[in-house]
Amino acid sequence: MSSRTSLTIVLAAGEGTRMRSARPKVLHPLAGQSLLAHVLRAAPKGEGAALAVVGEEVRRIRSDAATYIQRERLGTAHAVLAARETIVRGADDLLVVFGDTPLISVATFARLRAPLQNGAALAVLGFRAEDPAGYGRLLVEGGQLVGIREHADATAAERAITLCNAGVMAFDGKRALEIIEKIGNANSKGEYYLVDAVAIVRELGLEAVVIETSEDEVRGINTKAQLAEAEAVMQARLRKAALDAGVTMIAPETVFLAADTTFGSDVTIEPFVVIGPGVTIADGAMIHSFSHIVQASIGKNASVGPYARLRPGTSLGDGARIGNFVETKAATLEAGVKVNHLSYIGDAHVGAGTNIGAGTITCNYDGFAKHKTEIGAGAFVGTNSSLVAPVKIGNGAYIGSGSVITKDVPDDALAVERSPQTNREGGAKRYREMKTRAKPPKA
Ligand code: UD1
Ligand code: MG
Repeated sequence: MSSRTSLTIVLAAGEGTRMRSARPKVLHPLAGQSLLAHVLRAAPKGEGAALAVVGEEVRRIRSDAATYIQRERLGTAHAVLAARETIVRGADDLLVVFGDTPLISVATFARLRAPLQNGAALAVLGFRAEDPAGYGRLLVEGGQLVGIREHADATAAERAITLCNAGVMAFDGKRALEIIEKIGNANSKGEYYLVDAVAIVRELGLEAVVIETSEDEVRGINTKAQLAEAEAVMQARLRKAALDAGVTMIAPETVFLAADTTFGSDVTIEPFVVIGPGVTIADGAMIHSFSHIVQASIGKNASVGPYARLRPGTSLGDGARIGNFVETKAATLEAGVKVNHLSYIGDAHVGAGTNIGAGTITCNYDGFAKHKTEIGAGAFVGTNSSLVAPVKIGNGAYIGSGSVITKDVPDDALAVERSPQTNREGGAKRYREMKTRAKPPKA
């Protein structure tokens, strides 16, 4: 199989009117990735595997997929021919898949391609529909696929057939263009239907076959209700994969994962956690209930929540602890950092072992721009402090509770900046006294 080249054309034109959204249908998210990204992920890739997408506004999804525009929406066969320029290059296998069918798997593409190796001109993915209304019906005679009838054109007897067209097809690349160009538009909608390829293959005396799969894999998404159903299927798959990989989940049905979430060993996720795209969780990490995590990396044995919000660009070092009602964004917290209560740490770097007291806020926004807060290693920030960025707090520095820090604090210095401001000389003196009787901050 691997020696055969392939071209996969993803049909993604059209707005998806039934989604009732300004967003193009194939760009709606499912488990944190667009519908189209899911299809592209499952499609054959690597050497000798080309990708083409027919549709607008999809260029940014994957740069290795050529994009073609279908000027008029004249049907699925017409859409395929929008990519004619790449079809004529003649891959061994030409695969056509719809951009609104995100649950399809890598293995199914491989199964669908297998009959081409044995001389079939066309393989069609079929499934037994619970409710076949709306789908094209697969007409099988004597074990041979002889045609596909669209619902609108089907007779009552044909409508009783439950074996349906999933919309994924694999053509022998050498015959594909010849077959697809023969397709006409003599049907009730006056569209060029790709499904008519089956009858043409038969007329040419070639073989067409059906490969069956489960309905869950080929659910097409046309409405928000179908999007939610597909999300449920996807979440069930992701939870099972996480459990199989050794993640402990007390109530997996309450945990939401993204398609790209990665886990180390011995990770625990408590009930009611939402994980968005771009999250990696290392060995031994604990995610407590009601945490919301997006684009973040969580170090070994780190602890998050309950009720924590890790926003994009958060990186937690090994053993770091983020407690309740803490929000982080674009923040690197090195190993062993503790932010245990009620804090906002954004656009910040915090050195190893630093303790950030309850209610600490990095004031990163001055109304015009975002600024960075840098806090050294082994520092201590007292409760209810505001760190007004841009600002640097040195290694080992000690910030008194309730301070509003507007100027850099050197290494090992004490800063107590309250309103009304205390005498800074006095502050430094207290700090030196404090250091002489300093105990390390409580673990
Ligand atoms: C299609 C199949 C039907 C199958 C069903 C499975 C055809 C004619 N019918 O019907 O047999 O059971 O899918 O879900 O193939 N598109 C374009 N340009 C066009 C028309 C469509 O790019 O001119 C794209 C759409 O964005 C969509 C896909 O092709 O991703 C399928 O089109 P859609 O209108 O959803 O076809 P169905 O009626 O669902
Ligand atoms: Mg459809």
